[in-house]
Amino acid sequence: MRRAMIAGNWKMHKTTREARALAQELTSRIPRDAVEVVLCPPFTSLLTVSESIDGTGIELGAQNVFWEPKGAFTGEIAVDMLVDAGCRFVIVGHSERRQYFGETDETVNRRVKAALAGNLQPIICVGETLAERDAGETDQVVVRQIRGAYEGLTTNEAGKTVVAYEPVWAIGTGRASNGPDANNVCGRIRSTLAALFNPELADSVRILYGGSVKPQNMDEFASQEHIDGALVGGASLEADSFTGIIEATRKVKVRE
Ligand code: PGA
Repeated sequence: MRRAMIAGNWKMHKTTREARALAQELTSRIPRDAVEVVLCPPFTSLLTVSESIDGTGIELGAQNVFWEPKGAFTGEIAVDMLVDAGCRFVIVGHSERRQYFGETDETVNRRVKAALAGNLQPIICVGETLAERDAGETDQVVVRQIRGAYEGLTTNEAGKTVVAYEPVWAIGTGRASNGPDANNVCGRIRSTLAALFNPELADSVRILYGGSVKPQNMDEFASQEHIDGALVGGASLEADSFTGIIEATRKVKVRE
C-alpha cells in the first residue's frame, strides 16, 4: 500500500509573515491521518513554516537543492542546510527549473543523488511540453527523464524517491490533464521503474500528478490506479483550496 501524498509547491510566493499565517491555518485544519501533507515554501520561509508545523505530522520540503555540500556557489543551497531547516523532502527538476534555469536530466540526477546521500527525499518532476505531446512524444520524453533522474541509483535509494508527473502544458494554465491520460503516463513511469530496478520497487514508489489540480478535479486523479496524490501549485496558496484537495484525496484513498 502506497501512502497518499499531497505536496504544496508555493513557488515564489509569500513573505515569512504570510507563510506563517498560512502554515498555522493549515495545521489547525489538516487532520493527522493517512494522507501525507508536505509544504514547500520558498527558502526564506522554511524555518518559519518548520516551527509552525512542528509536531503536527505535516512535513516540510524545499523547492530545489544544489549538489555540492558547501563552497563558493553564490545563490545556491546545500542539502545539509535544508535538513537543518527541518526539510524531509525536496522538489527536484521542476519544469520551471528546466525551462528557465537550464536544468537538464544530468543536473537533476546530480541533485537527486546529493539529496539522497544527505537523507532528503527527492520529489522528482517529469513531464512533456505541449509541442512534445502534440508530436506524440509524451512517453518517450517522460521515460528519458525518468531514466536520467534515476541513473546510478541503488534500489534502496530509488525506494526513497517520489515522482511527480506534471505535463508542462497543464501547469498554471487552468487546463488540467484528465484522469485516464495522466494514469497512462504514470503507469508508464511505473513500468520504467520496474525495468530499471524491480517490480516491487516500482510498486512502492509514489507517483503524484501535478498541473492545475483543484478540489473539484482531485477525485478524478486520486481514483486512478497509478496516481498516489498531487503536487499542487496555485491551489496550495490558499487554505480553503489546499484543504479541499486533501479532503478529496482522503475520500478516495482512505477507506474507513
Ligand atoms: P499548478 O502548478 O497547480 O499551479 O498548475 C503545479 C506545479 O507546478 O507543481
